[in-house]
Amino acid sequence: MVMSDEVTVQRVLSGIQPTADSYHLGNYLGAVKQWIDLQNGYDAFYFIPNLHAITVDQDPVELRDRTTAGVAQLLALGIDPEKSTIFVQSQVPQHAELAWVLTCLTGFGEASRMTQFKDKSTKRGADRTSAGLFMYPMLMAADILLYSPQLVPVGEDQRQHLELTRNLAERFNSRFGETFVVPDGFIPEGAAKIYDLQEPTAKMSKSGTNPKGIVNLLDAPKTSAKRIKSAVTDNEGVIRFDRENKPGVSNLLVIQSALTGRPVDEIVADYDAAGAQYGALKTDTAAALEAFTTPLKQRYDEFMADPAELKRILDRGAEKAAAVAEPLVADVYAKMGLLR
Ligand code: TYM
Repeated sequence: MVMSDEVTVQRVLSGIQPTADSYHLGNYLGAVKQWIDLQNGYDAFYFIPNLHAITVDQDPVELRDRTTAGVAQLLALGIDPEKSTIFVQSQVPQHAELAWVLTCLTGFGEASRMTQFKDKSTKRGADRTSAGLFMYPMLMAADILLYSPQLVPVGEDQRQHLELTRNLAERFNSRFGETFVVPDGFIPEGAAKIYDLQEPTAKMSKSGTNPKGIVNLLDAPKTSAKRIKSAVTDNEGVIRFDRENKPGVSNLLVIQSALTGRPVDEIVADYDAAGAQYGALKTDTAAALEAFTTPLKQRYDEFMADPAELKRILDRGAEKAAAVAEPLVADVYAKMGLLR
């Protein structure tokens, strides 16, 4: 038997939408923080799903600016273009091509069961809900399956979309022959869902109702510190982790733990020994956040000041992405009897 010394490096892929001027703390702790770790040791593909963004109304100038700003934020956070392939979805047309194929393999009932679609379409009403919003999970499945990743690092809210992706991969493979890798989700333990600071039972989200509930990574550090300090807690006065009965305190503990790398239990034990109150929990969490966002904003400004370099990174990313995506779509088309 001939042994090969070639070690196959596994692939990771994930994306983050350009739908706000700044990413928020949930995006970072739930997803991008893991992307940064995984780029060491995996062949990493990270992208800005701007075609997903137009499933709801977008202002064209804003969308363009936020796409570039999204890339600059990923770079400032630590995604290294020498290690990771960074690209924009609309620059790799194979995403839309495979999305259509997968849409045709998805049952209408199956797509109707996606809880994010149900929530969003209920809030917006049928007349303000695009058919694109309904097809969103199949476009996401295409984003993933195009690159055959073993791992997809995302937050908890993407779990159901990943499950659909796995089902579609298996369905295609069994009908048309082995083609897609069935990917696993990579969802962090504590930080998979960061909660709104003012409403700590709801997910922190760019569409949150009260801006004070959100920590935007690019906000002035003082603003973010203030938001942490006015976070909703409870009347018990004891610092302990209890998601159900103490959602506000638990959320702050998770945030501090993820930012400092200290386990929640250790933080709680220290506060307990010191007889600390919520004031200390908030002050320390705000300080950890400030230490993180101050240099981040500086790096972000530097990347934004060099649009030529951003364009170079994206051009190279789109080329590398298409080199993987094109043979895959060609294979899918051939297997389905579609001329290309
Ligand atoms: P998006 O852009 O809403 O969010 C980007 C990532 O941030 C995570 N996230 C959170 N994690 C913890 N706590 C929160 N409060 C929180 N809010 C958001 C999300 O889980 C996500 O990982 N559909 C995706 C984008 C996408 C994608 C893909 C992801 C399109 N194609 C292919 C992976 C692979 C989305 O809307 O994420």
